[in-house]
Amino acid sequence: MRQLLRGLGRGGEGGHRAGAPAAAAAEEESPWGPSPVIEVRSLLKTYGHGDAVVRALGGPPDPVTGDSPGVNLVVEQGDMIAVMGSSGSGKSTLMNILGCLDVPTAGRYLLDGIDVGGLDEHQLSLVRNRKIGFVFQSFNLVPRTPALAQVELPLAYAGVKTAERRRRARAALELVGLADRVDHRPNELSGGQQQRVAVARALVTAPAMLLADEPTGNLDSHSTEDVLAIMDRLNASGRTVVLITHEDEVARHAKRVLRLVDGQIVADIRQAPVDGPPPALRDPAVFAARSPHALTSGGS
Ligand SMILES: Nc1ncnc2c1ncn2[C@@H]1O[C@H](COP(=O)(O)OP(=O)(O)O)[C@@H](O)[C@H]1O
Ligand SMILES: [Mg+2]
Repeated sequence: MRQLLRGLGRGGEGGHRAGAPAAAAAEEESPWGPSPVIEVRSLLKTYGHGDAVVRALGGPPDPVTGDSPGVNLVVEQGDMIAVMGSSGSGKSTLMNILGCLDVPTAGRYLLDGIDVGGLDEHQLSLVRNRKIGFVFQSFNLVPRTPALAQVELPLAYAGVKTAERRRRARAALELVGLADRVDHRPNELSGGQQQRVAVARALVTAPAMLLADEPTGNLDSHSTEDVLAIMDRLNASGRTVVLITHEDEVARHAKRVLRLVDGQIVADIRQAPVDGPPPALRDPAVFAARSPHALTSGGS
């Protein structure tokens, strides 16, 4: 764990590590296979105090013991899950905790084998940068900044050198079909294209998971299909994808669908096996040719 954080702190080294097949092979492998990307145990999140307390996550307390059941969730590498629920059910609260943007009131969260409960703000920011690619409903692009620079940004934070940064950012933009838009600024791109830039920015660091909160909430149906098809391809090439959504159309793309009611997981339905292609993948050849390091090793 300490070793892992040192690795995170090395910044520029992180880029090389992800890019070199030899280093990738040397990554820790336990005899029980890779650790889950997400492992959440008895998670609770409350806001406020006393009579004004809101239980956002974990479910209502038992009338006798006063204990909430808490949220338990394990997400395996390569899975594609959708978290569904009506407004107020706890989706954003869960997303913020899984994304290390907020801390739980109680319970344990292991992200890619790291117990994030013991980390300080600085360590959390390193984990966020290295382990998670965020996609938001509102794109969250930097105004007046060309697509290439947007996508380079997380690599710059990670200390990756300029030439390598540029190469990887171009490869990521190519992957989302925007090779011919690298110089375009957000106001020169359609909503769907802006979200594809955001997806490129999320995946350029080769994170352990892509965490998307209503990624198609601001898109028309055509752009929605484009973005979801990209998510399908990313998952088919080995990336773990977590989609927070209230749209059935989005959930159709997931291998597993969770339903939240009042901060509790009340349904957990597997739509497709973890180690197969995502259910809505249009081109199965993509899955046949999959390689988890496809993006960072060759840049193609
Ligand atoms: N900062 C906060 N302070 C108090 N209550 C909150 C806060 N954030 C969310 N909540 C409450 O927690 C519950 C879950 O909210 P949220 O996770 O935003 O739901 P969703 O994203 O599914 O709409 C809601 O009852 C909401 O009002
Ligand atoms: Mg929400």
